[in-house]
Amino acid sequence: MKVLVVGGAGYIGSVTARRLIDRGAEVIIYDNLSTGHRGAAPRGGLFVEGDLADAARLDSLFKGHPVHAVMHFAAFIQVGESMEAPQKYFTNNVANVINLLNVMLQNGVMRFVFSSSAAVYGEPESVPIEESAPLAPNNPYGETKLMVERVLAWYSKLLGLRYAAFRYFNACGAFKGLGEDHHPETHLIPIVLQAALGQRDAVTIYGADYPTPDGTCIRDYVHVADLAEAHILALTAMEEEPALSLPKRQARGVAKGSLVYNLGNGSGHSVKQVIEVARAVTGRPIKAVEGARRPGDAASLVASSRRAVTELGWRPEYADLAAIVRSAWEWHKEHPRGYQG
Ligand SMILES: NC(=O)c1ccc[n+]([C@@H]2O[C@H](COP(=O)([O-])OP(=O)(O)OC[C@H]3O[C@@H](n4cnc5c(N)ncnc54)[C@H](O)[C@@H]3O)[C@@H](O)[C@H]2O)c1
Repeated sequence: MKVLVVGGAGYIGSVTARRLIDRGAEVIIYDNLSTGHRGAAPRGGLFVEGDLADAARLDSLFKGHPVHAVMHFAAFIQVGESMEAPQKYFTNNVANVINLLNVMLQNGVMRFVFSSSAAVYGEPESVPIEESAPLAPNNPYGETKLMVERVLAWYSKLLGLRYAAFRYFNACGAFKGLGEDHHPETHLIPIVLQAALGQRDAVTIYGADYPTPDGTCIRDYVHVADLAEAHILALTAMEEEPALSLPKRQARGVAKGSLVYNLGNGSGHSVKQVIEVARAVTGRPIKAVEGARRPGDAASLVASSRRAVTELGWRPEYADLAAIVRSAWEWHKEHPRGYQG
């Protein structure tokens, strides 16, 4: 089976490509290296440097390769930046995805797996969050994810596209020599580990007055290899989907041929708890300072992934936060300068 992994030189895409290759899939990685790293694209896959805006390039790629399914990871991911430069986000995260979908469909490629985000929920009314919760993004980043989900639902209904959209909670951890290396880094675990390595003086806690037990934000941390596994399960589920009964589809409340799932561990950890776990795992004193809240941060985001568990058979292997932080710590110690060395 040939799978095109768009954004496969990035953090989650590279791990998914690795897992696909390990399972015997033929993988083509298409990436413009805007935020990814050539060294992250796993060996055993074909690497093509290119941009999603380049329809002609994509067209010749599909004409040259019988691609069975496309997995899309190629988005800009910084919530704060999306508030300052929304046009950058709507162009890459929406327009370029539509470009890709249109070229795919013209070439008869009908299966698509999309990296969505918990950001589609905005500030949730209650946790754990079910997929049926109100969709109310409070920043352009989350809005771009929701817009693509809506395009996918219409393309599925009207054009026969089969798709899965995964609303990831906080991706973290490392897998088989592949880890998190974003510039700038905005994610808590790598920031905490950079402080443990002495690359930062301290970790800033953005707000300690939230309505949570210790006042800091609560998130659901999910290992990157578990996210990758869900993508592989989706490939099988997309084959089986037409056989699902009508009541089951209606109960799911989404269009025929589509699969929309939260991916998280269902347990929340506060910023202070993550720092504590990292101190225990690394054995290093990690200094933390309290700062102001950031606009757009929800107090608590915890997933219900019941649907992915029951419908896809998804079983997260790395649910324990200490195990997740340990895997990231091993990677950061071996790659103190990320993919640069
Ligand atoms: N990291 C998280 O915690 C998290 C949480 C929720 C959702 N997501 C989603 O998961 C996906 C992957 O996130 P990540 O952390 O791996 O990001 P990343 O920045 O590490 O990877 C994105 C990759 O896509 C490539 N890319 C971007 N625009 C492109 C374009 N126009 N053409 C070709 N390649 C392009 C980049 O070079 C990079 O290699 C994103 O869609 C993101 O929104 C991530």
